[in-house]
Amino acid sequence: MSKSGVLDFASGLGGNIDKNEVLSAVDQYEKYHVFYGGEEEERKAHYSDMVNKFYDLVTSFYEFGWGESFHFAPRWKGESLRESIKRHEHFLALQLGLKPGQKVLDVGCGIGGPQREISKFSSTSVTGLNINEYQISRGKELNRIAGVEKTCNFVKADFMKMPFPDNSFDAVYAIEATCHAPDAYGCYKEIHRVLKPGQCFAAYEWCLTDSFDPNNQEHQKLKAEIEIGDGLPDIRLTGECLEALKQAGFEVIWEKDLAVDSPVPWYLPFDPSHFSLSSFHLTTVGRFITRNMLISADFFVSSRPGICGTCPKGKSTCPKFSRAG
Ligand SMILES: C[S@@+](CC[C@H](N)C(=O)[O-])C[C@H]1O[C@@H](n2cnc3c(N)ncnc32)[C@H](O)[C@@H]1O
Repeated sequence: MSKSGVLDFASGLGGNIDKNEVLSAVDQYEKYHVFYGGEEEERKAHYSDMVNKFYDLVTSFYEFGWGESFHFAPRWKGESLRESIKRHEHFLALQLGLKPGQKVLDVGCGIGGPQREISKFSSTSVTGLNINEYQISRGKELNRIAGVEKTCNFVKADFMKMPFPDNSFDAVYAIEATCHAPDAYGCYKEIHRVLKPGQCFAAYEWCLTDSFDPNNQEHQKLKAEIEIGDGLPDIRLTGECLEALKQAGFEVIWEKDLAVDSPVPWYLPFDPSHFSLSSFHLTTVGRFITRNMLISADFFVSSRPGICGTCPKGKSTCPKFSRAG
């Protein structure tokens, strides 16, 4: 299929971009990135435009090829991709210790797959915060179809400046979303502000491991490929994320690189010999979206730590951060 043919398919699925504007949106998006002369500072300065262009282009494909939750998951042998994704969401809910009736915030919620699952699993009310208009409209439709409108809602906003008063939520989580933030500290600080004191934040974050060598050209190329393939302004080291959490006021209770001991590698769905979801990777846009994921499984970017902050002390096994004071 030609590039324009594939992109016709994207708008045909109900994406946000008019068919005639898709190619120009791809061009504008690509210019943010290293391979097209883009620079990190530009990506950070225009992060909302870059992220929105990316998700306007890819959301329909993600939903078609991946499902309603746009994240990876550690996976057991014999477990389907969908099962592993749900288990990963349940694990997060359990580690957060969610109680029925609590008010929870999902930061960077996509089209609401995790929101619906976690709300149903824990009998909580989950607000999904997202900067992307199209994803929210799609998420509202899916909430209506699932019959969860009373407990799941959406707010269109930037997680760098959230429209909520201080101390609004009993728990906050973010699944593979805060990697889009231009500044980890600024984002975590905002999460800390809206979380009630003593309550917990849990996140699945994308990070570089310590094996990343900034002086190695091949490593830098792989990093740039992941950035363009996933709409990222930069990729931070795990240590930088942990430090930013502490600076933002969280006590880090548990953190783990979930990639290292997953019995089935997280990147397996992108392996052409295993991926069967409509041969997504074989399409031009599929490659545009996924081309870096296999290489990212290489030696330096396999870290997707589960991290938690702000619980009372004593819980040593939860992927969350506890808000002190
Ligand atoms: C990889 S998707 C993950 C979505 C969702 N957490 C899931 O697992 O299905 C990243 C999400 O973060 C959102 N996002 C990125 N930057 C954002 C920002 N500045 N403010 C709010 N949402 C943002 C994107 O629109 C997208 O929905």
